[in-house]
Amino acid sequence: MRITIRDVQEMKKRGERIPMMTAYDYTSAKILDAAGVPLLLVGDSLGQVILGYDSTIPVTMEEMLHHTKAVARGSQRAMVIADMPFMSYQADAREGLKNAGRFLKEAGAQAVKLEGGEYISQTVEKMVRSGIPVMGHIGLTPQSVNQLGGYRVQGKTSKAAAQLLKDAQALEEAGAFSVVLESVPAPLAKLITERLSVPTIGIGAGRFCDGQVQVLHDLLGLFTDFVPRHARRYAQLAEVIKEATGQYMRDVQEGTFPSEKESYTMDAAILEELLSHTGIS
Ligand code: KIV
Repeated sequence: MRITIRDVQEMKKRGERIPMMTAYDYTSAKILDAAGVPLLLVGDSLGQVILGYDSTIPVTMEEMLHHTKAVARGSQRAMVIADMPFMSYQADAREGLKNAGRFLKEAGAQAVKLEGGEYISQTVEKMVRSGIPVMGHIGLTPQSVNQLGGYRVQGKTSKAAAQLLKDAQALEEAGAFSVVLESVPAPLAKLITERLSVPTIGIGAGRFCDGQVQVLHDLLGLFTDFVPRHARRYAQLAEVIKEATGQYMRDVQEGTFPSEKESYTMDAAILEELLSHTGIS
């Protein structure tokens, strides 16, 4: 049985911190699921760390569905949350609802995540009423990078902070089961966390959130284009891959790979028969 939104809400009530990580493919989903990560986010950050775009803006529904299917196949216990890509829900609530439904119906996700606060709350409500669990996402919303003027910390003035609190409350009222707070000052994230009954999941929002989310490639040291200030590196896998690849290339070049153990043999009589048939000696 997979983790449900009820389990996540119970975790907040018990004061149990909630770890969430991004996953984009079958293999990593399988590893993270076996490690017991309760929430797997198929983030549109895959635009940068998997597809090489310079932002999340070009990511399409088809790309998100494709990766969500792989993560759903690779996991058994974790709740799979699919990120709704830019312009799949902003223009029209009806279209947003249909697109959200595709993640559950076609891709095997259990929930979707949307960027935006108060102004998106009616769309969230429609989804929730239709049976689609929604995770909100406010603060630094990367799909609005052009409007925000860069990847900046949000909620630094009292007006902006008050709006973020309103946004979080509007999402909770609309039925969101959880809200991501990205790049907001820790004291503001603490206040929002205390005011909401649903869990907050922070990224660059300090330690007082109910949970934390990080991009897998940042945690593992796989993505080397830049390291966000809020990320902690738990491994240096880019270095491990480089070293292993170098060793493989040396083995191929020196003829030590493959060995006999890594090759398939053939019955000598069959080989002989082949040679006599073909006349090759
Ligand atoms: O796309 C993503 O990975 C995200 C998280 C970082 C919250 O939205």
